[in-house]
Amino acid sequence: MNSNQKSETWLVTGASRGIGLEMVKQLLSLGRTVIGACRNPDGARDLWEIQSDYKTRFRPLQLDVSDSASIDAAAKSLSNTRVDVLVNNAGILRGAAEPLSTLNIDDVIKSFVVNAIGPLQVTRAFLPHLQMSSAPKVIQVTSRMGSIDDNKSGGYYGYRMSKTALNMFNRSFAADYKTITTIVMHPGWVKTDMGGHGATAETYDSVKGMLSVIDGLSLGDSGRFLDYRGQDIHW
Ligand SMILES: NC(=O)c1ccc[n+]([C@@H]2O[C@H](COP(=O)([O-])OP(=O)(O)OC[C@H]3O[C@@H](n4cnc5c(N)ncnc54)[C@H](OP(=O)(O)O)[C@@H]3O)[C@@H](O)[C@H]2O)c1
Repeated sequence: MNSNQKSETWLVTGASRGIGLEMVKQLLSLGRTVIGACRNPDGARDLWEIQSDYKTRFRPLQLDVSDSASIDAAAKSLSNTRVDVLVNNAGILRGAAEPLSTLNIDDVIKSFVVNAIGPLQVTRAFLPHLQMSSAPKVIQVTSRMGSIDDNKSGGYYGYRMSKTALNMFNRSFAADYKTITTIVMHPGWVKTDMGGHGATAETYDSVKGMLSVIDGLSLGDSGRFLDYRGQDIHW
């Protein structure tokens, strides 16, 4: 890590638990400044502690990625704040085991709203903050389950479709914003509320890997689909 990276400001969505919370912790221990965005900062107990430990380098931010007014208010509350790295991490997995015949369409719609349209809106709202950075990066936390090529087992309709849509959003974004380094990243199958106990990766290892890959990214990587070890994933 160079001294420029140390002074970076990161904005992480879904910071209340799981991968987002672990990312906030590791970034702070690496000396970065972090804005931890979550739906309900008053209810996010783990973030209270972090806030008292890192008074000058951590800032909580109310942000519901499914609510346009919340996104706009969050971006406005940070006006004139530079964001070097935006990590669109917040996500949901709804109706995972449901077969097509009984699939709740509201779950599919909600998956799109949170997992695909949310990151699009958050990215757009924070463009002015990113454009204050000399080397801005946007990381969309996707899933291997959004890979069409990799889908041999079916199911997970809403989740898979929403992550594929997120991947497509990012390809257009990468093509249109050539001064921003932006990728979609699979964190592995991770032991969180979403990933469950049977997952293969510890949260610590997933995030450590992700941060190492993100630190090493440059503009030439824009538009790629990588995992937390830096391996390319087929679309
Ligand atoms: N775990 C895995 O194996 C795995 C694998 C592939 C990809 N991923 C992706 O990794 C990301 C993080 O997953 P995770 O495993 O850490 O999941 P998690 O433990 O379920 O945590 C999800 C996070 O997203 C937040 N969130 C949900 N809806 C939100 C909304 N409308 N606005 C703002 N925040 C919202 C949650 O906040 P609340 O506390 O307020 O609910 C929570 O902080 C997701 O995008 C997920 O799809 C995970």
